Amino acid sequence: MTITSPSAVPAITRMPRVRTYAMTPPIHFTVDYAINPWMDPSTPVDTELAVAQWLKLREVYESLGHTVHVVDPQPGLPDMVYAANGGLSVGGCTVAARFAFSERAAEADHYAAWFADAGLGPVHRTADIQEGEGDFLVVGDRILAGTGFRTHRDTHAEVATLTGMPVVTLELIDPRFYHLDTALGVLDDDTIAYYPPAFSPDSRAVLAELFPTAIIATDADALVLGLNLVSDGHHVVMTDAATELAAAIRAAGYEPIGVDLSELLKGGGGIKCATLELRRLDSDVDVVGA
Ligand code: ARG
Repeated sequence: MTITSPSAVPAITRMPRVRTYAMTPPIHFTVDYAINPWMDPSTPVDTELAVAQWLKLREVYESLGHTVHVVDPQPGLPDMVYAANGGLSVGGCTVAARFAFSERAAEADHYAAWFADAGLGPVHRTADIQEGEGDFLVVGDRILAGTGFRTHRDTHAEVATLTGMPVVTLELIDPRFYHLDTALGVLDDDTIAYYPPAFSPDSRAVLAELFPTAIIATDADALVLGLNLVSDGHHVVMTDAATELAAAIRAAGYEPIGVDLSELLKGGGGIKCATLELRRLDSDVDVVGA
């Protein structure tokens, strides 16, 4: 007699939704300065390999039926490849970033101009520092917002006013997880995965209350930026190095798709950092054939 373990068969089928992303190719990618603990300017960077890995990521999104718009990379702005930091686009409202470090400051105008050209305007700017989807993650009808290293807490209220969505403040405490998207991944409209030690005790309590069934990442998986993932509600595009997290995500009914973005990890970013989701109006939303 064969006994099939119930855990081998996910109880829930997770439905994908077609997405639209903006990505910036790493043609000018280098690590010449260090603005987070992952960056070491003495480590050699293979820009050609970074481009090849980026192309593969783009291909994965397109093969899943998603649309990828390409933003023009600018010489002298090596971190522009981390498009998620360029802004936040939700329900017809776009907020362009205001960067914390001078090395990235000029990216803000490039992203703002691109949003306007792409028809995502009016493009708003905040009074304080805020690094787009690096620190603002949309989960269903609310936004989770990081603070502690980059994004200023006061921008959380500004973003709530601009988007009309409730914003939940979460405080990051470990410099290796300096953006919310390094410590928390959104799987669908009400499911997340996260790494509790990256958050203050109060924020941990908030997350435990809001998401009692969240997937919890191990130290090893968090440290390869396993949580820096992009999900369409069914397919979860993530680093191929976070094996336990991928298994937990699969057991919860999603389909993990492993991608190697090792060159971009040298700049302190992964899959989600390289991907900005453009959310227009509900009428643009459709279901992808799984
Ligand atoms: N080198 C970049 C920085 O420190 C990496 C940004 C990664 N992006 C992200 N969404 N976490 O700003």
